Amino acid sequence: RRLLGTAGAAGAAGLVVGAAGGAFAADAVGERPAPLSGVGAASVPFHGRHQAGIAEPAQAHGHLLAFDLAPGADRKAAAALMRRWSRTAADLMAGRVPQGDDTGIALDAGPCALTVTFGFGRTFFDRTGLADRRPAALEPLPAFTGDALDARRGEGDVWVQIGADDALVAFHALRLLQKQASDTARLRWQMNGFNRTPGATDRPRTARNLMGQIDGTNNPKPTDSTFAERIWVPDAREGADSWMAGGSYAVVRRIRMLLDSWDNLSLERQERVIGRRKSDGAPLSGGTETTPVDLNKFAADGSIAIPGDAHIRVAAPESNRGAAMLRRAFSYHDGFLDDGAPDAGLLFVAWQADPAKGFVPVQRKLDRGDGLSRFLRHESSGLYAVPGGCAPGEYVGQRLLE
Ligand code: HEM
Repeated sequence: RRLLGTAGAAGAAGLVVGAAGGAFAADAVGERPAPLSGVGAASVPFHGRHQAGIAEPAQAHGHLLAFDLAPGADRKAAAALMRRWSRTAADLMAGRVPQGDDTGIALDAGPCALTVTFGFGRTFFDRTGLADRRPAALEPLPAFTGDALDARRGEGDVWVQIGADDALVAFHALRLLQKQASDTARLRWQMNGFNRTPGATDRPRTARNLMGQIDGTNNPKPTDSTFAERIWVPDAREGADSWMAGGSYAVVRRIRMLLDSWDNLSLERQERVIGRRKSDGAPLSGGTETTPVDLNKFAADGSIAIPGDAHIRVAAPESNRGAAMLRRAFSYHDGFLDDGAPDAGLLFVAWQADPAKGFVPVQRKLDRGDGLSRFLRHESSGLYAVPGGCAPGEYVGQRLLE
């Protein structure tokens, strides 16, 4: 399994491991097939304690989808759908031709680090008669003053995150899941995102976002001693949400960047808004990208090195009683708006064991005093309970639905 690190450049070539054993590219002109290598061969296991697509680096292509159960679809129908979808995701992630009807879209490609991750929204529990099993952590997020949310592109009964380092492989997964939803569930919204293509940089690097910043440096890392407690729902749990053991909560927000205003700022202003250098991501308190941030450092002229409203000061765990989350985002670009501005930004996905100790307190603080917020619009929002992973023969969500 690929691990997310500081230099967790989205799907960077140097991090590719786990070549799919025996995967071969079919050769259209009948020449001897060559073993898949690099991007095509990278695979992530579907089965395990946690679902895939959380602790691994974000891939070059992403689709976020939410489905609503069709009228009349009950718990049994939802269970059958999750079984179907889990089987398909396991096949595709291993690079196998899926059982049943296939579309052929990715026939000649390897798994390309495909991950498919499933979550349940608040409304799922009402629709399936499972309101008594709904986790308290799925309480609706509070309203934030900077929100301009479009309800049609938010929430939803079932959420699916697809990521792959090849666009056709990612679309193939999307299309199959959508077909298999058939009469049970209908697409409510879909968003498409991207990150750097593996091999595009000279070495694995932390990805940049559409503002040009190196983004993801101070994420919790799987090797941190606090990673598990921050990101995964603990095992020893009793009560309504015991089925969430090994899972995580995903906050999903479409955040448009006001790029025209942003690009008008001088480089110095841009760096002070974040608190890091744009060129290499080093904190303004000194050092390199990975040097710990010193929030108490003063510059030679007596001014504070990292300004009071710098994004990394306001968002840091030190400013929020230890609150932390794993940010695993995709950029998006959907053309332009009526006023000519780019419809572009971040499909922000934040993972945590409890949103009340992750996204919520941090966003509350950012909402009040973050220099970056002036250049952002939160346009949609969703919160999903993402169950733990499953063993071969099981399906995601089985502990809830069986
Ligand atoms: C750090 C950009 C939204 C939480 C950063 C960094 C950048 C950045 C460039 C510094 C590098 C790093 O450590 O990753 C952005 C952009 C956003 C956005 C462009 C919106 C489009 C948010 C939101 C939250 C958030 C909504 C949470 C509610 C954080 C946290 C850090 C961070 C916790 C690490 C702070 C630290 O401990 O140093 N962000 N961010 N960000 N951001 Fe954001």
